[in-house]
Amino acid sequence: MTLENKKIGLIVTGGIAAYKSLGLVRSMVKQGAEVRVVMTNAATKFVTPLSFETLSKNNVLTDLFSEKESEHVAHIEFADWADLLVVAPATANMIAKMANGIADDFASTTLLATEAPKVVVPAMNEHMLMNPAMQRNLRLLEQDSVQVIEPETGFLAEGYSGKGRFPELETIMAVVNANFSDKDKPLKGKNILVTAGGTQERIDPVRFIGNDSSGKMGFAIAIEAQKLGANVTLVSGVSKLPDPVGITTIRVKTAIELSEAITRRFAEQNILIMAAAVSDYRVQNVADQKIKKDEDTLTLTLEKNPDILKQLGKIKQNQYLVGFAAETQNGLINAQEKLEKKNLNLLVLNDVSNAAIGFNSNENEVTLLRPQMENIFIKQTSKKQIAGELLNVVISDLKK
Ligand SMILES: Cc1cc2nc3c(=O)[nH]c(=O)nc-3n(C[C@H](O)[C@H](O)[C@H](O)COP(=O)(O)O)c2cc1C
Repeated sequence: MTLENKKIGLIVTGGIAAYKSLGLVRSMVKQGAEVRVVMTNAATKFVTPLSFETLSKNNVLTDLFSEKESEHVAHIEFADWADLLVVAPATANMIAKMANGIADDFASTTLLATEAPKVVVPAMNEHMLMNPAMQRNLRLLEQDSVQVIEPETGFLAEGYSGKGRFPELETIMAVVNANFSDKDKPLKGKNILVTAGGTQERIDPVRFIGNDSSGKMGFAIAIEAQKLGANVTLVSGVSKLPDPVGITTIRVKTAIELSEAITRRFAEQNILIMAAAVSDYRVQNVADQKIKKDEDTLTLTLEKNPDILKQLGKIKQNQYLVGFAAETQNGLINAQEKLEKKNLNLLVLNDVSNAAIGFNSNENEVTLLRPQMENIFIKQTSKKQIAGELLNVVISDLKK
């Protein structure tokens, strides 16, 4: 039994698919898991707690303030007990609460209090699912390393076909099982350092030279690497994205700071993925005071920043080194040259002249170059997907 001795907390919220979670409890129990169920008040309108109690052989928890045993706080005890929390079905309402850290009932308070991994199974009307607020909330969950299972397309309770259906039980169980399987953690025991975001080089106390990098690509790689079991350190330049949960995140501003942060941690790393957009130059004489507009022209002298990637390529021992090249023209030729010159194991070529992809966008389209190997083209898709595919290539290279 694959889930023997595993403690799974199932949180059922008030959607029409709530009855399908009864099947989920059966599958989990059948595989040996101990299952305890929390239901929201809305969920109890769809299915009775008795059904879940019977199948899970445990009391169902619903009310934050009806804790009978005063020596412990039930929602904290539940949050600490679970090895994994599964929210199925997850209403739009609960997803919004999770994305914003709202804790106003037993279910949402437990979700905020737990350190266990979380799987969320959204199920709702297609228009609710596609609402920009909903999509924004789902992205926030993913940034917080919550595993969101994509809803399926098919016949909805509303009587028409659309996206938003509760997935097949096998799909959900595969994700549940993956959380307990080392087979799906090929990067377990590996230390990965990822850089992300853009650097800022000061001109004076109120101005700087920066770039358009949002950090989305590097953050996605860090989050996916963590899911694959790696110990991840994220060195982020300027990015509005929040620190991903469970990932050591170091914030820097300048290229020099970035270089120092990497060099200090280089020796213990197995893999380095340099997705940050680092300024090639910095201002030679940074002004102590705000520069006045007295003159018609202003000349700034720039000096070269250290080429971090090249330096790492020179000193690397067994580290697998990945670089990013943002090109606007002659991409492949420049990238091939960079790959060789900098002694990289892999170079990700990113055509930033296309506004639909690259800097700031949620999607990207890249070519992966490796020495003496065929290039791999990944057509336009989410940065999360690109991160996963890139890491799969790294994993298969490391096996060789
Ligand atoms: C008949 C009916 C079906 C509903 N189905 C869904 C659904 O499938 N998904 C969803 O997100 N909300 C659905 N709702 C709305 C939720 O029940 C409502 O937003 C509720 O406040 C959710 O509370 P909870 O998140 O605490 O469980 C439905 C409401 C009704 C009356």
